[in-house]
Amino acid sequence: MSSNKETFGKTVGFVFAVCIVCAALVSFSAVQLKPLQTANKLLDKQTKILEASNLLEKAGTKSKDIVATYNKYVEAKMIDLDSGDYIEGDTKLFDERRNARDASLSSKPENDIAGINRRSNNAVVYLVRDDAGKVDTVVFPIVGSGLWDLMYGYVGLEADLNTVKSVIYSDHKETPGLGAEVMNPKWKALWPGKEIYDDAGEPAIELVKGGAKADNEHGVDALSGATLTSNGVTNTLQFWFGEEGYKPFIAKNSGGLN
Ligand SMILES: Cc1cc2nc3c(=O)[nH]c(=O)nc-3n(C[C@H](O)[C@H](O)[C@H](O)COP(=O)(O)O)c2cc1C
Repeated sequence: MSSNKETFGKTVGFVFAVCIVCAALVSFSAVQLKPLQTANKLLDKQTKILEASNLLEKAGTKSKDIVATYNKYVEAKMIDLDSGDYIEGDTKLFDERRNARDASLSSKPENDIAGINRRSNNAVVYLVRDDAGKVDTVVFPIVGSGLWDLMYGYVGLEADLNTVKSVIYSDHKETPGLGAEVMNPKWKALWPGKEIYDDAGEPAIELVKGGAKADNEHGVDALSGATLTSNGVTNTLQFWFGEEGYKPFIAKNSGGLN
């Protein structure tokens, strides 16, 4: 009887010890891996920004070359979205997702066509220069609802701040083969040369169900079988290049950027 008790005590003790050891291992690796995770996230972001400005081929695939190319050509700048002015701020620490959850750093859009609920008051835009030091692409982060969740990405515009270079999604939960076709190189290749604004200066960029006509300078083909994601992408682009998005910044800078 007493030996049974002893065995039970030992078993519990052993289980407890295993738990402690495992918990310590998990916490240790979480702490140890955190800097690596942060570095990977940053690298992923820099890769997407280079892709959005057509510099990824030049950079290659090695992480150190991607970081070097990014550091050489890209300048991140903080802006106030309502005024479109540059403001002081640490672009490295800026986190749009965190700001959008903080009522003191964000506001509810009046016309929330992108379905984001709250929009950070500030944003970071990326000025990308050529070898002569002239800005030749500006990369704008975008976010908006797809079918399943928010979709995050970047739009690269030429220095006229109207002609599209690229629409690059980085983070979404759409269905593979349907909404996730936003990642398909063939779809991405439809974007270069399209224009954001119509003659009246309103965002006219759109995805066209059934296919955009060849002479449609504002439209590309919608994703087939994924009308809901496609509508989300149209609304996201219209929101972010509209009055509550980057339009005030674009209006102030379309004459030329330094
Ligand atoms: C499991 C499942 C996943 C789906 N995923 C998507 C999606 O990611 N994006 C989307 O627009 N539609 C998705 N749909 C389809 C939508 O429900 C809807 O039928 C579709 O958007 C209509 O597009 P269409 O008019 O081009 O056929 C999904 C449907 C099912 C059953």
